[in-house]
Amino acid sequence: MMANGYALTFGIEEQSFFRERAKTIPIDWLQLRSGLVILDVGCGTGDLTARIARHVDGGKVYGIDSSPEFIAVAQQLATSSHLNLKFILADAHALPFESHSFDLVYTHTVLMHLSAPEKALQEMVRVTRIGGLIVALGEGNWETVRCEPACEALNLVVKALLSNIQRQGGDPFLGKRLASLFQQVGLGDIEVRESPSSYIMGHDLLQSGYLNLAKPILEKAAAEGFVYLGQMEELLRKIRAWCSMPGSTLHWPKSISVRGCRLLSSP
Ligand SMILES: C[S@@+](CC[C@H](N)C(=O)[O-])C[C@H]1O[C@@H](n2cnc3c(N)ncnc32)[C@H](O)[C@@H]1O
Repeated sequence: MMANGYALTFGIEEQSFFRERAKTIPIDWLQLRSGLVILDVGCGTGDLTARIARHVDGGKVYGIDSSPEFIAVAQQLATSSHLNLKFILADAHALPFESHSFDLVYTHTVLMHLSAPEKALQEMVRVTRIGGLIVALGEGNWETVRCEPACEALNLVVKALLSNIQRQGGDPFLGKRLASLFQQVGLGDIEVRESPSSYIMGHDLLQSGYLNLAKPILEKAAAEGFVYLGQMEELLRKIRAWCSMPGSTLHWPKSISVRGCRLLSSP
C-alpha cells in the first residue's frame, strides 16, 4: 500500500495549484487554538499544513504523505517558514505514531485516493487522543460533475481523472459514504457539511490553476493507453476554445466534509 496511488505526475503546475488552493480551504471546523498537536494525513506539498501551523502557537503540526516528491517540497517549506512543522514520508494506512498522540487529525481530499479508506480512518482514530477531533475535508461525489454547454474534450479529462483514481484503487464517489465510514469506525458527535453547488466559468478556468492540471492528467492517461498522446494538443486546444465561449461553465461536485470525536468507546 505504500506505493503512492495519487494520480498525477508531479510537476510545477500541481505545485502552484496546491499552493493557491491551500489559501481558500475552509478551516473553521478544525477548532484551532494554541498548543494543539495536529496531524495532516496526505499533506501533499504542505501548504495547508503550514497555514494550520500559523494558528497553533506553541503547538506542533505534523504532515505525512506517501509521495517522496511532495514530502521533499514540504520539508523545504518547513525549513524556510520557521513554523513548528514536521513532515514525514509515510502511508496513511499505517501511521508511524503511537496511539493517542494527537489532539486533532485531519485530511483534505485524500481518502478518495486510497485503496482502503476505512483502514486509514481507523489509523486516524487510533492516533487521536480520547476526546480529540478527526476531520475529513473536501471529499467529493464526482458523478455530479458536468459542463455547460457539453464539451467532449473536458469530459474526457474528467473521465481520465476518475478512471485513473479507480485504477489505483481509489473511489471518486467516496463523499457519498463518508459519514457512514465515520460511524463504522466508532466516532461520536458526527457532523456532515456539504458545500453549496459550485461552478467555474470557462474564462475563470483558463485563469485558474485547474486547467494546468489537464495536461498531466492526459499525459498519465496516454501513458496507460487511455488516450493517444497525439490527441493531446488537440484536446487541450478544444478545452481552451470551450473556456473562451461566453457562458461556458463547469459544474463542480459539491465538497463533502465530515468530522467526529474519538470516544472512550472508539476502538
Ligand atoms: C489531492 S492530494 C491532496 C494534498 C493535500 N491534502 C492538499 O489538500 O493539498 C492527495 C494526496 O494524498 C497523498 N496520498 C495518496 N495516497 C496516499 C497514502 N497511501 N498515504 C499517504 N498519502 C497518500 C498524495 O500523495 C497526495 O499528496
